[in-house]
Amino acid sequence: MLAAQSRVFARAVLTRATLRPTAAIGVRFSSVWSNVPMGPPDAILGVTEAFKKDTNPNKMNLGVGAYRDDAGKPFVLNCVRKAEDRIMKDLLDKEYAGITGVPEFNKGAALLAYGADSSPLKEGRIAITQTISGTGALRVGGEFLARWYPSSKKIFVPTPTWGNHIPIFKDSGLEVNHYKYFDKKTNGLDFEGMVNDIKNAPKGSIILLHACAHNPTGVDPTQAQWDELSKIIKGAGHFPFFDMAYQGFASGSTDKDAYALRKFVQDGHLLALSQSFAKNMGLYGERTGSFSLVTSSPEEKARVDSQIKIVVRPMYSNPPVNGARIVAAVLNSPELNAEWLKEVKVMADRIITMRTQLKNHLVNDHKSKLNWDHITNQIGMFCYTGLTPEQVEKLKNEHHIYLTKDGRISVAGISSKNVAYLARAIHEVTK
Ligand SMILES: Cc1ncc(COP(=O)(O)O)c(C=O)c1O
Repeated sequence: MLAAQSRVFARAVLTRATLRPTAAIGVRFSSVWSNVPMGPPDAILGVTEAFKKDTNPNKMNLGVGAYRDDAGKPFVLNCVRKAEDRIMKDLLDKEYAGITGVPEFNKGAALLAYGADSSPLKEGRIAITQTISGTGALRVGGEFLARWYPSSKKIFVPTPTWGNHIPIFKDSGLEVNHYKYFDKKTNGLDFEGMVNDIKNAPKGSIILLHACAHNPTGVDPTQAQWDELSKIIKGAGHFPFFDMAYQGFASGSTDKDAYALRKFVQDGHLLALSQSFAKNMGLYGERTGSFSLVTSSPEEKARVDSQIKIVVRPMYSNPPVNGARIVAAVLNSPELNAEWLKEVKVMADRIITMRTQLKNHLVNDHKSKLNWDHITNQIGMFCYTGLTPEQVEKLKNEHHIYLTKDGRISVAGISSKNVAYLARAIHEVTK
């Protein structure tokens, strides 16, 4: 017994000594990572963290870019549930997909984006690869362009743009530049500024365009403005790279939201496209997207495909299969596809209704002297309210409403139960 006790004592002394070896010999402990500085927190995730800590029952999180139903809950689409059931019943194996992913997914995704009438699609000129959602598509696309786009390493993104665009393209080896986009005076599009900056960009620059439902502003060019942009970008010899993260989510129609992309293709641009199924199919965590390039011939497509595989293989080998199987089942089954189109419209319409209600409360109930037309003129998940950082801070401290400092609210986070509360709070901080 005594021997056992002394063994335990000896082990405790030994453990203390081994855990604090440097203290024991009086040398300052230094690690190979001692030069790593603390990075800034992610702007959007920081908002969610602060929201979680707030115990007020009226609190609202308008930071996160994910759809919520009218009860404020995450929403899994019925068509997705049905597709999952079918996949489960098929007892599919878990083998690797090819480097470019699940073929039926790629087929469905390209058809959805480019449309059945698309000449490059019919002629077999579109190189497409499944990616880790939209983020992965932009990263693979950025890397491919940095290696193979011959004219320039400069990519121009709108001011403002989705915050992640900048590090994604920098990490891809591109040089990020900006073109004017949002006009703070009108809370609308600065079309003239946009056109001038694009015209003045060095010939052959890459121009990143949000295909619809621009994030963070919710401001899109009109169809006539897209027609003009197509001509200007062609005339300047630039290369368009479309980011389409919200097809169907903006207007409720997947065809209408693909207008800009399809117009540019019709006009003969050999363009790049990033697609995401996070928002329009509610597959956020499934990480399902695609990157595609319109090429000039099937032979060129084969060469481009081979180089996309060389980009992807050392990055993540091949993409995950589950989300792609769900999307393929929904897009390629007429019955599930019809149900999906209805559900996309339900989501888009709920957002549009919340915009109208928010504006009506401000204008009719509170008689706000400010112009709130931009709330309903803007489109998609986000509304760029025009609130200043100080007003955003007041919303948080006095009303428990959380949004990003730039005044962007995720309209999907508003419900019929809290829209009046939000309107009153916005009125309080802006009157
Ligand atoms: C403009 C834009 N592009 C791309 C993405 C990519 O999203 P994900 O990687 O979740 O598909 C988002 C997501 O918020 C976005 O807003």
